[in-house]
Amino acid sequence: MDDAAMIQVLGAIAYGELGAHEEAKAKAAAATDDEERTRWRVIAGQELRHYKGFTARLKAMGADPEAAMAEFRPALDAYRGTRPADEVEAAVWAFLGEGIADDLMVWFKTVVDDEMAAFVASVLTDEEAHEGQAAAALRTVIGDNPGSADAALSAAQTMVDNMIASGGGVGTVPSAPLLAFMRVGRADELVRLIMRGFARRLREIGVDPSGIKTPFRAPV
Ligand SMILES: [Fe+2]
Ligand SMILES: [Fe+2]
Repeated sequence: MDDAAMIQVLGAIAYGELGAHEEAKAKAAAATDDEERTRWRVIAGQELRHYKGFTARLKAMGADPEAAMAEFRPALDAYRGTRPADEVEAAVWAFLGEGIADDLMVWFKTVVDDEMAAFVASVLTDEEAHEGQAAAALRTVIGDNPGSADAALSAAQTMVDNMIASGGGVGTVPSAPLLAFMRVGRADELVRLIMRGFARRLREIGVDPSGIKTPFRAPV
């Protein structure tokens, strides 16, 4: 992989980790009971470890982490700045978001050197636990609500809409973080992995993935 592509993708990942750290820290501060506060504090610490590991690699490559992250600030800030309308939306976005992050890491591990791959494996261990917790939280929220499949479908739809809008809309996504991953190469493999993971998680929460509308046309 060429260094420029690697620096870009590390910048996107590092900024994502920093945001995850800040979000977990805020959730710990807002927690209403000790058990919840401790859980978010642990996650905040893990996200900070991830951030530091990825920025350490940027520095080792002679890159400035701030500069590498700058390109992805607008899209990720816009995405994170959109607040969920209700608790179903919050839980669905958290679960599907953790899932996408997991799949990106699974793929990233396959395109990096051994040292980075070992670090990414340790990140994945944490992230899989985060996804498990998000899945459990989602089950609690939509558990016995008969209208939950409809609510989950519309929550997944608003998430997809938000992701597209945050990247600047269709066709104008030069700084979308996903593109940094795609520039690394093997883009078709990556997109397939993300789409499959997204569809599988939708089915897990009782949503038919074909019910999600996107402005992209299916390949003929
Ligand atoms: Fe993380
Ligand atoms: Fe996480």
